[in-house]
Amino acid sequence: MLEKFIKDVDKGLSSYEKSIPSKYFYDKNGDELFIKIMHLPEYYVTRAELEIFKHQTKKIITALEINTKTYFQLIEFGAGDGLKTKELLRVLDKENYKFEYVPIDISQNALNSLQKKLSIELPNVSIKPKQGDYFEALKLLKDNHHPKVVLFLGSNIGNMTDETASKFIYRLGAFIYPNDKLFLGVDLIKSQSIVLPAYNDSQGITKDFNLNLLKRINCELDANFEINNFYHHPEYSEKEGVVRSYLVSTVEQNVSIKKIRKVYKFKKGEKILTEISRKYNDETINEMIKKTDFKIIEKLSDSKKYFSNYVLVKS
Ligand code: AVJ
Repeated sequence: MLEKFIKDVDKGLSSYEKSIPSKYFYDKNGDELFIKIMHLPEYYVTRAELEIFKHQTKKIITALEINTKTYFQLIEFGAGDGLKTKELLRVLDKENYKFEYVPIDISQNALNSLQKKLSIELPNVSIKPKQGDYFEALKLLKDNHHPKVVLFLGSNIGNMTDETASKFIYRLGAFIYPNDKLFLGVDLIKSQSIVLPAYNDSQGITKDFNLNLLKRINCELDANFEINNFYHHPEYSEKEGVVRSYLVSTVEQNVSIKKIRKVYKFKKGEKILTEISRKYNDETINEMIKKTDFKIIEKLSDSKKYFSNYVLVKS
């Protein structure tokens, strides 16, 4: 784990255009900051998807082609606090569907609190959390032939480039069976005046979230990033449909990372790309799944058309 972190940071900071993979945002502090982000007035993403889960639950269930007679597995990639999924679980439980809920997350911390909350709020729902890599966990579920529904919500897929996302979905296809479903949540392309504030909130939580990456490297890799010498800077291109979040060096400076035994030079104004947050439309989604074994069978959107959930079936 630490070896991989070291390798990824060294690779990113040694490149001509510096970058650090966004997956390293999520240490304990990062998890907490992201929960705060989800409740920010500017961060419409979570609310838009929650509206779909709250107001279109029946439509979701119909699209998933499940019934109360057939036992199935509801698997979630990157479950986090399960805010949206709970809306679905509540209805499935009330209507006597037979299933188990399998949240998969890299954070054992997040899984523990999710399990604890669910055991109180929905004690009848069977929950089998799995910690670790999504595909490692899926491999363990491949032995049984129960119908599967895989939830990949929150536009988490948007942190991948389109090519990586397409490969990811293609790969997922190898771990499930024909007629199994992928329920994919994606943020939609919309104007800069809505998107940009979601990544540059007035309370500075997203700024702290981004800068936490440097704090984490300071702690875990024994580095000396001067946090005050970097500022948070997101950019959005509506034409491309991509938010890029950067940390920008305010001065010319050297940063030493002891665990890598290297010093990295930063010019004044030099940027580190820390995250891409892709926004989609039907065209880009179709392009992405074209090279996979999945077909779109349903699309649900919130009332403002900010966010969509696509239901995909494995052929
Ligand atoms: C969890 C990846 C969907 O890209 O919108 C929120 C993460 N970054 N604010 C996103 C995030 C800055 C978020 N995802």
